[in-house]
Amino acid sequence: MHREDFPMLKQDIIYLDNGATSLKPKSVIAKTVDYYENYSANAHRGDYDISYKVDLEYENTRDLVKEFINAKRKEEIVFTSGTTDSLNLIVNGFFKNYLEQGDEIILTKTEHASNIMPWFRIAGLTGAVIKYIPLDDNHFVTLDNLKKVVTPNTKVISLAEITNVVGDKRPIKEITKFAHENDIFVVVDGAQSVPHIKVDVSDTDIDFLAFSAHKMLGPTGVGVMYAKYELMQNIEPVNLGGGMNESFESPSKMVLKEVPTRFEAGTPNIAGVIAFGECIKYLNKVGMDKIEEYEKELRNYLIEKLINIPHIDILNIEADSGIVAFNVDGIFSEDVAYYLNKYGICVRAGNHCAKLTKDILGVANSIRVSLYFYNTESEIDSLVELLKDKDKIIKEML
Ligand code: ALA
Repeated sequence: MHREDFPMLKQDIIYLDNGATSLKPKSVIAKTVDYYENYSANAHRGDYDISYKVDLEYENTRDLVKEFINAKRKEEIVFTSGTTDSLNLIVNGFFKNYLEQGDEIILTKTEHASNIMPWFRIAGLTGAVIKYIPLDDNHFVTLDNLKKVVTPNTKVISLAEITNVVGDKRPIKEITKFAHENDIFVVVDGAQSVPHIKVDVSDTDIDFLAFSAHKMLGPTGVGVMYAKYELMQNIEPVNLGGGMNESFESPSKMVLKEVPTRFEAGTPNIAGVIAFGECIKYLNKVGMDKIEEYEKELRNYLIEKLINIPHIDILNIEADSGIVAFNVDGIFSEDVAYYLNKYGICVRAGNHCAKLTKDILGVANSIRVSLYFYNTESEIDSLVELLKDKDKIIKEML
């Protein structure tokens, strides 16, 4: 769908690495260039017309994001540099002060590094304990399994809504309902979900959400931290500096601006945030429901083809996102990626920054195809054709 909007697709490539980052449509690129060519002033600082335009555009993106995830207030939207930055802000700004010795943090072993490492460090600092939800035979989270690890000491559950290797979609609404009944906070890593499915924070009632613009058609270096407004006052800014303070006199006399401004110290990625607004308009036009449905169809098409190749071991047959992880028997995943690259096919290979996933899948590395709405069945045919012949892979992989 909509391939003509993506300049990169004019090249002779088949781009199947959308979990790492997405391609950018012309409207997003044009919006970025427009800022740099026509009104590249700073944000929230100037008293002249072009700086006023910057503020309007920048804040317009905040409104668009608010609507896109159905937040209740625009103040609940904080711009960060990406999902990693957002998760670190949530952990270091809120949970560092909240957690105490013996409290429990619930994760899964299939999380990305960004949703594990900040928790590891905070566990070390606070004396909190990390626990993992046991996964079912498909490596999915179930509410029953979550219940097995929750105790009165559990304070937070932090999960990707869609994981970046297994590609499973978690029942976030049910998890959150159960969590809140037990006074447990829910943090959601939306890096792989917000670009691909309709995410509604009011409906799921989650407490925190992190996601990146660059995986949803936007610029790199821009992300969002969503937190419920009532929690925002209890998040301590991690970065202090210009733009986020009302005044400062001495260590004991620093007055911060209201939320969300207090979390956006320094000059932000202005061009990026403004262009991010264009992504949201674009995705709204295409329709998130349509994107989800199309990716599911494409995924099924790929699975049906791969399943018939005896030397291919699919690691996540039952998942329902556009993420398909597999290995070719006896061949190192990066060698397969290198072979595919010779034919202009871009996939990711390795551990995908989800280094505990090996305990679940039994393999440390895999080849990952991650689809988006501009991919086609014919691209999948080309991929499958190249994977069918194992001898050819071995001959050409180095
Ligand atoms: N987190 C990104 C991925 O899964 C980079 O590829």
